[in-house]
Amino acid sequence: MLGGVRKNMTESFLSDNCPPMGIYETLYAFRDSFGSFMGTEGTHPWSQGFPLTTPLENFDGPSLPDSVDVTWEDRFYPKAWGHPELRESIADYYNSQYGSEITPENVMVFAGGRPGIYTVLAFLKNNVQVRLGNIEWPAYLDIMEQTDTNFQVVPFTKENNFHPSNSAYFDRAGLNAKTRLMPILSNPQNPSGQTRWGEELRELIQMAEQPKNGILLDEAYEMFHSPSVSGIQFVQDLDNSNVFIAGACTKGLQSPGIRVGWIVASKKNIETLANYSSFGMGGVSHPSQLYAVKLLEPNRVKQARKAVEQHYNWQRERYGKAFEEMGLGVYTGNGGFYHWLEVPEGMTSAELNRRLFKRGAAILCASDCDMARPHSKDPDYVTPYTRFFRFSFGPLLPETFEADIRLFSEVLDEYKRELDI
Ligand SMILES: Cc1ncc(COP(=O)(O)O)c(C=O)c1O
Repeated sequence: MLGGVRKNMTESFLSDNCPPMGIYETLYAFRDSFGSFMGTEGTHPWSQGFPLTTPLENFDGPSLPDSVDVTWEDRFYPKAWGHPELRESIADYYNSQYGSEITPENVMVFAGGRPGIYTVLAFLKNNVQVRLGNIEWPAYLDIMEQTDTNFQVVPFTKENNFHPSNSAYFDRAGLNAKTRLMPILSNPQNPSGQTRWGEELRELIQMAEQPKNGILLDEAYEMFHSPSVSGIQFVQDLDNSNVFIAGACTKGLQSPGIRVGWIVASKKNIETLANYSSFGMGGVSHPSQLYAVKLLEPNRVKQARKAVEQHYNWQRERYGKAFEEMGLGVYTGNGGFYHWLEVPEGMTSAELNRRLFKRGAAILCASDCDMARPHSKDPDYVTPYTRFFRFSFGPLLPETFEADIRLFSEVLDEYKRELDI
C-alpha cells in the first residue's frame, strides 16, 4: 500500500516484549518534546553514555588514528575468535598494565561490549544464578530478559552508599547446593561511579574464584579511575575459573563507532564463545579490529590512559562541586563519567527531565537503571529511586561547563520556586 496505513497488519512472528533500552526511550521522549534529536545543534547530551571522540588536548591526550590499511586478506572472512593481531594486542595490554599472564587464547573479540556480555549470558547453564546491583546499566535488564537469565538483585541504597559489600553478591542463603553464582558488576559502575579497586577488588576476585562462583566484571570504564582498574590484576588461575572480564574500545579508547569489544576468560570458556561466533556471528570486521590494534599501540595507549584519567577526574570533580552547591544530593563514587544525584524531597527526576527537555537538555532517570523494575511496563510499579538520576559528563567539552551549570541551575530553581522549596 502506498502512502496509507494498512489496517489489518499481519501478526508479527517476533517477540512483543522487545522495547528499546531505557536510554532510547528518553531520547524519543526528548525528540517529541524538543522537536529535534538529542545530539543535534543546541542540545545538551547529559543523558548520553559516550566519551569525547576527539583528542583530550587539555591533558596531552594522543591523536586518534584516522585510517587503516585494508589489503586483500582483510576481505577474507575474519577468524571467529578475533584477529590474531588484536587478540595479541589485548593480551599484551592487560599483561603490561596489570601484571597478568593471559594469552591470546584467553581473549574473544566481539562487535562491542554489549555482544560479549549478551553472549556470555545467553550461554549460562540453567543452574547459574546471576546477581546484580539494584541499580546498574539499563541494558543488563534487557539482556537478562531476552536471554531468560535467572537473576536476583543486591540492595543499592543510601544506607549502603550505593556500594554493597562484595559478600552481598555471593550470599548463598536459601540456595541449594547445585546453584552456581555469577555476579555481574560494571566497575567503575554505570550509573553511580562507585568503584571497587585495590584490596576490595582483590577480595571480590578471590570470592569469584571460589568453587561454585564466577563473575562477569564489566570494565567498560576501566580507565576512568585513579588508578585504572581491572580485576585481571588479582585473578590467580583464570583457566580454572568462571571469571569473565568484559572490555571495549568504546569508552577509554574513545571509539564507540568502531564496535570492538572483548571478553577475557578461561580458554575453555573462550572456546565456547568462539564456537558460537562460528555459527551465530561470523567474526568482527577486520578494518575495525585493525583500527583497535592501532588504538592499543603501547606508547599511544599509555598516553591515552593518563589523559582519560586526568580529564575525567577533573570533570567529575568540578561538576560534582557545582551540583553540591545547587543543593543536590551527590552520591557519586570516584570513577566513571557519570554523576549519581538526588533532587530534594518533593521533586522527582522525571519532572525535572520534562523541564530540561524544553530547554534542549536531558538526564537519565534512575528508574531506567532499576534492575528490579518489571521489564514490560507496569503502571502500578513505583521505583524506589524516583528522586535519583544520572548526569553524564562523558561527551561534554571542557568549554561547556559554565553554560551547562547555568542551564541546569535555572531549570532546577524554577522547579523549586513552583514547589516553594
Ligand atoms: C556498563 C557498560 N558496559 C558496557 C558498555 C559497552 O557498550 P558498547 O556495546 O557500546 O561497547 C557500556 C556502554 O554504554 C556500559 O555503560
